[in-house]
Amino acid sequence: MNDPTPDRVFDPDDVGPRGRYQLLTSLVVPRPIGWLSTWSADGSANLAPFSYFAALAASPMLVGASIGIRSTGPKDTLVNVRHRRAFCVNVVTEPQLEAMNVTAATVPPDVDEFRLAGLEVASAEVVDAPFVASCPAVLECELFREIDLGEAPNVLVLGRVRRVRLGSGLPLLEGGHLVDPSALRPVGRLGGWAYGMPGEVRIIPRPR
Ligand SMILES: Cc1cc2nc3c(=O)[nH]c(=O)nc-3n(C[C@H](O)[C@H](O)[C@H](O)COP(=O)(O)O)c2cc1C
Repeated sequence: MNDPTPDRVFDPDDVGPRGRYQLLTSLVVPRPIGWLSTWSADGSANLAPFSYFAALAASPMLVGASIGIRSTGPKDTLVNVRHRRAFCVNVVTEPQLEAMNVTAATVPPDVDEFRLAGLEVASAEVVDAPFVASCPAVLECELFREIDLGEAPNVLVLGRVRRVRLGSGLPLLEGGHLVDPSALRPVGRLGGWAYGMPGEVRIIPRPR
């Protein structure tokens, strides 16, 4: 049993923005990475990872990503989502880890991060966005809502999933629609520059 009295108690107001970011992102782990691909207004492809990312609802299927606003203005992904009202979420799996990291570089809007990372671009079927052709699982999303986060220099973008694209290497379990986690090899973000892949996976039926 852990000692119920913790050694250190932090008030978020006392640790500064960096301390708040470090505590939050090293404790809310592992976080899925929404690797968001968009078209800019002039048609260049954009790709960037977001680990302030979550599944929010199933009916309708909603996902959300919290995108930062820099002192110079919104990140390219947000500019593009506002313009095209669409994005794709490329699920980051083990083979994409290095390429995903390359696409986090801060580069001007006209730089195509697909090219930067040596990735092939494909066009979504029903939304106005590109996706990573080699990615085994992709969610085609249309903008559902944009939510202001008050003082935070972030905007929460909600997407409604309109298509789920699965590669042939991803079997579904139990005759249903559960994707086999051992085939997917998803990557989760830990604190700082650390990432984790699932190790031992335990199956525990839920009590009735
Ligand atoms: C794994 C990972 C997760 C990230 N998560 C976020 C995030 O949730 N929100 C955010 O604003 N930036 C996040 N970033 C930083 C952006 O990816 C980075 O600022 C990128 O250049 C934004 O690209 P854009 O200007 O093309 O939209 C993350 C970076 C990495 C490597």
